[in-house]
Amino acid sequence: MVEQGNRQPSFKAGIYLLENLTSGMYTDPFAILREYIQNGVDSIDLSAQKGPVDQLEIKIELDPGERRILIRDNGQGIPAAFAQEVLSSIGSSNKTAPNLRGFRGIGRLGGIAFSDKAVFKTKAEGERVESVQEWDCKSLRELLAESKNRALTFNRVFQKITSFSQNKCKRSLESYFEVTLYGISSFRNYIFDITRAKRYLSQVAPVPFHPNHFSYAQEIDSYLERNLRHYRKYNIILNEERIFKPYNDKIKITKGGSDRLTGIRFFYLRDGREELMACGWHGEREELLGSIIKGDNSSGIRVRAGNIMIGDDHLLDSCFREPRFNSYALGEIHIEYDGLIPNSRRDDFVDNKSKNMFYNAVEREIGLPISKEIRLRSRTKSESRIQISPAIKEEERRDKATLPVLESEPTKEATPLQAIKKQPDNVFTEIMRTCKDCPKLTEIIEGICNLSKKSKSVLKVN
Ligand SMILES: Nc1ncnc2c1ncn2[C@@H]1O[C@H](COP(=O)(O)OP(=O)(O)O)[C@@H](O)[C@H]1O
Ligand SMILES: [Mg+2]
Repeated sequence: MVEQGNRQPSFKAGIYLLENLTSGMYTDPFAILREYIQNGVDSIDLSAQKGPVDQLEIKIELDPGERRILIRDNGQGIPAAFAQEVLSSIGSSNKTAPNLRGFRGIGRLGGIAFSDKAVFKTKAEGERVESVQEWDCKSLRELLAESKNRALTFNRVFQKITSFSQNKCKRSLESYFEVTLYGISSFRNYIFDITRAKRYLSQVAPVPFHPNHFSYAQEIDSYLERNLRHYRKYNIILNEERIFKPYNDKIKITKGGSDRLTGIRFFYLRDGREELMACGWHGEREELLGSIIKGDNSSGIRVRAGNIMIGDDHLLDSCFREPRFNSYALGEIHIEYDGLIPNSRRDDFVDNKSKNMFYNAVEREIGLPISKEIRLRSRTKSESRIQISPAIKEEERRDKATLPVLESEPTKEATPLQAIKKQPDNVFTEIMRTCKDCPKLTEIIEGICNLSKKSKSVLKVN
């Protein structure tokens, strides 16, 4: 055996790690706008701790002629003394406050994959120095393409393709962080489609509801402000136009029709210990007879963390009786629970127990009640657009027998089984769902209830 002594095995990070962190991360180029917006709003939040935020904003300029993208925020910037260190850290972040959205230290690299050159410029309030880091992304791609470079270390590549400088400028109160991506690859042309970019940002970015198009804006804002530790919306401007969320009082539905909202329902999602995982709202539709068209940009119950969307409008499809029922609905779920962590692509959550609890709660509290309502309404209207198969009818019959009725509280007169069915957060919900085909289900539940009534410990009935 070879003696190792106290020597630690040396650690080597190679060139392809950088490839994974850049081109390997996001297939949709709009995701890079989201990452830079996320950094911008984190920085604005930090500035907001010091004073008023009305003037704080993120400006995005898409310039198809020059094939250039610029994203600039006037948050707190990075002080000159730390800029080089912060901009040279990869895969580690100094964001520790729970309200800040970033924590992996890789989002800033998103633009490297899509451009020839990326320039980061920043300045902090009251300083005379602007710090600049440049990435030669074209050279990085050339290095990655040549087999002779396979043994290059991450560190060596970083030295070769980045440069850092500091320029003197006039002392001013101004603070900013600016990202400019030059020479955007033509494979990514659609990022310059301004209408498409606006549509993306209106759904994903943490922007306000439109005060004139959506009458429920204020009601929802004050509900979210009351129930979440941090709920904020930001001024985001795309090519001089301010962006708002896509919600409207009137909605366009399939086959050229329309429907309108008659109110908003609010809800809470809690874990097994009654701790708040998320809260949200969904719109009550007058007719509810068709799905909302894609072009309306509002369909589906959307999930947001830090008011930035996770996944897309189909993330929660599987929580509905039929996936398409999600696009009959519109609304938002805002995450509050620290255990629900967006994954690095932000297209879902990191796999853990909290994720399962969350999806179960969405199904129970939102997906199933909305699915039932859609079927009921389609049944009662003669112009129903849904073909109900015998299998679905059987499912409906079982729904009625086994699922909790969420809207109302248990009444004094309820039988034990009725009372259980009416309680949204009940240990029996799971038993009832998994054992719904058991012919003795009612007997078993009532037996447990009678026992618990005697001991007054498991379930309070009456
Ligand atoms: N707009 C910005 N304003 C101020 N600092 C920024 C901005 N963007 C990035 N940074 C700094 O660069 C670091 C790395 O950013 P990023 O790679 O997106 O990682 P993360 O957001 O996960 O920390 C951030 O932690 C922050 O310190
Ligand atoms: Mg980030």
